Amino acid sequence: MTRDSSADSRISAEDIRRRKGGVPIVCLTAYTYPVARLLDPHVDLLLVGDSVAMVLHGHATTLGASLEMMIAHGQAVMRGSAKACVVVDMPAGSYEASPAQAVASARRIVEETGCQAVKLEGGVGMAAQIAAIFAEGIPVMGHIGLQPQSVEKDGGYKIKGRTKDNIAALFRDAEAVEKAGAFSVVIEGTMEAVAAKLTRHISIPTIGIGASADCDGQILVIDDMVGMTVDRVPKFVKQYADLRGVISDAAARYAAEVRSRAFPSHDHVFTTTPRKDKT
Ligand code: KIV
Repeated sequence: MTRDSSADSRISAEDIRRRKGGVPIVCLTAYTYPVARLLDPHVDLLLVGDSVAMVLHGHATTLGASLEMMIAHGQAVMRGSAKACVVVDMPAGSYEASPAQAVASARRIVEETGCQAVKLEGGVGMAAQIAAIFAEGIPVMGHIGLQPQSVEKDGGYKIKGRTKDNIAALFRDAEAVEKAGAFSVVIEGTMEAVAAKLTRHISIPTIGIGASADCDGQILVIDDMVGMTVDRVPKFVKQYADLRGVISDAAARYAAEVRSRAFPSHDHVFTTTPRKDKT
């Protein structure tokens, strides 16, 4: 199914766990085959995030993701990668009800995609789910701090770690996720100093997004990072390219050439001389 079917050539969840305190772990989201192929040589971990619901499918929140959607994109990313540790997000509604529901969904994701691990959102409240998936032998990544699946409940995207009570809750969440057996944990949208302290406090790698350079690794949504995002770009995003500009410019030039009949030119049509015709 994958570009290189030898499972040993991939970075495993255990490899990621062992990188605590080492060279920062490079992570990006990926949702499609061609993008996975482009990113695979450069990253340690590809996350098939439920952000796919917003980024590629136009939903208002990540609550638009389904198990089927995550599996289809997980399969595409596995086909397009050979080296990276591929983690697939568990969508809202696929794990919260019970540890048994979480295990059934995680098993389906791993069996149908061949990915290395799954990720779910939640700390203390989801520790039983993490422990149950881990007990099945499926590596799990946690996700604490700002949890996009809870934005409706939280009344928006709110940065965490601003109050004493919330900081204490974050420490409890980090400890619970670690104790339940997660191999690493995403810390999203959290005050810099708090994310740095959490990183020093737990023994599993922390992967920051809107968190701290002191985290054990960093992740960004690929479309944000390459300048493809249509809506507001969050403060924590650094854009390393302007693909919207590139695509928009290409579309404008193509449209002008079609209207003026400059395209297709001689080079892009089939002529009567068979040897000159290349498909
Ligand atoms: O869904 C996603 O893309 C994520 C990352 C932002 C960590 O969970």
